[in-house]
Amino acid sequence: MRSMLFVPGDSPRKMEKALGSGADALILDLEDSVAPSAKEAARNITAAFLAEQAGKSGRPALLVRVNALDTGLTGADVDAVMPSRPDGFVLPKAEGGASIQELHVMMSVAEAHTGIEDGVTDIFAIATETARGLFTLGTYAHSSPRLKGLAWGAEDLSADIGAETNRLPGTGATEPFRIARSMLLFAAADANVAAIDTVHVDFRDLDDLRNECGEARRDGFTAKMAIHPAQVPIINEVFTPSPAEVENAKAVVAAFSANPDVGVVAIDGKMYDRPHLRRAQRILARVEK
Ligand code: COA
Ligand code: MG
Repeated sequence: MRSMLFVPGDSPRKMEKALGSGADALILDLEDSVAPSAKEAARNITAAFLAEQAGKSGRPALLVRVNALDTGLTGADVDAVMPSRPDGFVLPKAEGGASIQELHVMMSVAEAHTGIEDGVTDIFAIATETARGLFTLGTYAHSSPRLKGLAWGAEDLSADIGAETNRLPGTGATEPFRIARSMLLFAAADANVAAIDTVHVDFRDLDDLRNECGEARRDGFTAKMAIHPAQVPIINEVFTPSPAEVENAKAVVAAFSANPDVGVVAIDGKMYDRPHLRRAQRILARVEK
């Protein structure tokens, strides 16, 4: 999964448009992009869209962003859409493994009620939206087999800490948000799930988006969230391993399987040892998916 496009959960028009965007996943949003007065309507519109798409092949993965656990709305969000079989849920303002387990249980109950096989619905979490969230990043590992990815978020974190901005023109995220971004990478690696880069809100500036994608990929992110269809092709392009990268990964894996008893090999004048083998295997696993 490379691109995950947010779509307000009360907009059938944008949902239709998003289907043709080329995004690997859509995040149908019941949270911040939906006004409090429209929450109920958004649940119904989202459930109807999911039901219509349920059996179709070749479509993006369909995820639903529920409201945060402290709103008291999460359980009803899950119950409203589970019968329409979403591929997964996105938990905003997540605060560690305990919050994942809380959502996990709500989902298991809803799956059972609906006759859906236990555990088939995934969880993704946005894990740096509160200051407290940052102090729980080491608790995601082994929290739930449903957990498939962790994303960082800057907008809500700005509000939580009272920051005037989270990024500066040209230089990107400011110091507190660079820390959140880096910590999220370590948390995702520790939990053995995908590291997902945050949204680029300035959706007309596609050059800056491309730079940001490049930096994210360089540092280990394998996906990025989007808010506008125009962002999707760039994200897909940057997060697809290049043919040269895939070829090199294949060569590294082949060299080690041809020499199972060595710890280090040389290819074209460069040294490769175990960490390089792991990296190569990860690249090939992404390509296979
Ligand atoms: N998904 C699907 N379609 C989208 C879309 C999205 N996220 N964002 C824009 N579009 C559609 C618009 O509806 C429009 O189609 P139309 O002319 O047929 O109606 C077309 O793409 C061009 O949109 P544009 O005029 O460039 O932008 P806009 O002013 O209509 O919308 C936003 C701007 C920010 C309101 C919109 O991109 C959006 O809703 N993004 C998602 C916001 C969200 O979910 N935020 C929560 C997570 S941070
Ligand atoms: Mg938010």
